[in-house]
Amino acid sequence: MKLIEVADYTDMSRQAARMIIEQVKEKPTAVLGLATGSTVLGVYRELAADHRQHGTSYRLVRTVNLDEYVGLGPDHPNSYRHYMNHHLFAQLDIPLHETHVPDGLAADLDEECRCYEQLIDALGGIDLQLLGIGRNGHIGFNEPGTPFSSTTHVVELAASTREANARFFPSLDDVPHYAITMGIATILRSRRIVLLASGEEKAAALARLFEGIVSPELPASALHLHPDVTIIADQKALSLIPKEQRQVDVP
Ligand code: F6R
Repeated sequence: MKLIEVADYTDMSRQAARMIIEQVKEKPTAVLGLATGSTVLGVYRELAADHRQHGTSYRLVRTVNLDEYVGLGPDHPNSYRHYMNHHLFAQLDIPLHETHVPDGLAADLDEECRCYEQLIDALGGIDLQLLGIGRNGHIGFNEPGTPFSSTTHVVELAASTREANARFFPSLDDVPHYAITMGIATILRSRRIVLLASGEEKAAALARLFEGIVSPELPASALHLHPDVTIIADQKALSLIPKEQRQVDVP
């Protein structure tokens, strides 16, 4: 694992956007694995600004998102499909039919999960997967205890995750209980992974990740098993890790 220490959220967003832009320039047909949430919003703003100012093209890019709430459709303001269309896809020249988010309204959710795995394979695999990290160390919606062998599956959201995400909903009761998420094995099949962390609320999860223990109790620790992971973290997210311990190779 490689760590890029940055000052703050703005710096993190710029660095991550730069890596994505470089990926797209190097391989215009790249498959990007994307995330939602607060952490990646700044990255999407940077990508949109770069597209407007410098014309980086996403015409041939394909995208697959990590997850989607079960029960929320594209028109629901809190669905991840809605988030992606609004914050990123509408700001770029990417054809919408080349963007993929699991279907939270699928009649057969298990079949939807199987199809999502097949889709990722049919696209040739993910070139660069962008990740945020949950306060409990989740990646995608893979909560603590998820086997590292998991592929795309339906998950019951942890109470802490529903509480953390309630800020986007009218009330906690409105936060769905289930989601579809790429599994940890799905994420690890990506050729390159970039994990972002910003703010004090991520410091404890990041500190555990830096301990180097690899356990399903900390889903993000599966990333120690991947050969090409870059963590971009700001000073607040790194605040619980002494400077001399800021290297994250598995012991
Ligand atoms: C979102 C996702 C989640 C988030 C994580 C951090 O697609 O998969 O794992 O990356 O919950 O969320 P924020 O960035 O809102 O703190």
